[in-house]
Amino acid sequence: ASRTALPRDLEGLRVVVSAGGTREPLDPVRYLGNRSSGKQGYAIARVAAQRGAEVTLVAGHTAELPPPAGVDLRHVSTAAQLRDAMQERAQDADVVVMAAAVADFRPSARAEFKIKKSDDVPDPVVTLTRNPDILAELVQKRRAGQAIVGFAAETGDERGSVLDHGRAKLARKGCDLLVVNSVGEGGAFEAEDNAGWLLAADGAERPIPRGPKAQLAATLWDAVAEFMRR
Ligand code: CTP
Ligand code: CA
Repeated sequence: ASRTALPRDLEGLRVVVSAGGTREPLDPVRYLGNRSSGKQGYAIARVAAQRGAEVTLVAGHTAELPPPAGVDLRHVSTAAQLRDAMQERAQDADVVVMAAAVADFRPSARAEFKIKKSDDVPDPVVTLTRNPDILAELVQKRRAGQAIVGFAAETGDERGSVLDHGRAKLARKGCDLLVVNSVGEGGAFEAEDNAGWLLAADGAERPIPRGPKAQLAATLWDAVAEFMRR
């Protein structure tokens, strides 16, 4: 980590950041999960605290990461728990950053006991139910002057480029800023580096050059500080 002095430009701001992946239980011993390491969200929380913000980090499941210094760290597991924690903490936050990889779906039923295989009954079929969109809900309940930042992991496809998908997601989600990560070709997930775009609701777009996750965090907080001044 760099020891150079950072600006204290986030002093007085209350910030809540989500990070890591959620786990959706199937039975007492099994779950649906994802590969999020939590590194980007942790870097965002750490940099905000270094720049003077009062930071709560709501962490789902992550790689083994040291707790960021000076940050109030709270652990959750499922998307439902993450939603409750974010709704509670967002109530008096100036800035909300949704960097968590939230499961889009959960198993429709959670078995009370471990699911057993048996030659007498057919193999189980898992049906899924859509989870609420936490970011969209936070946008709906946004306080005056509150900044809400979303994330998107995108690949280009036949329907458009990474940037096209990012612009569409920003419009759909209604957040103030959207960090668009280019994934594929070894990008983003479990990686040390990130690259992509930072899109603002007013149409401003800045490229995020490939670099360490702390560098993306710095670019993000520069944009948030600029947004809060307006
Ligand atoms: N997100 C959320 N609640 C969900 C799903 C996603 O709050 N149930 C948030 C993520 O934390 C991220 C943003 O929404 O900040 C975009 O997530 P992403 O998975 O890229 O978009 P989705 O809207 O889920 O669309 P899709 O996965 O189909 O591309
Ligand atoms: Ca999703």
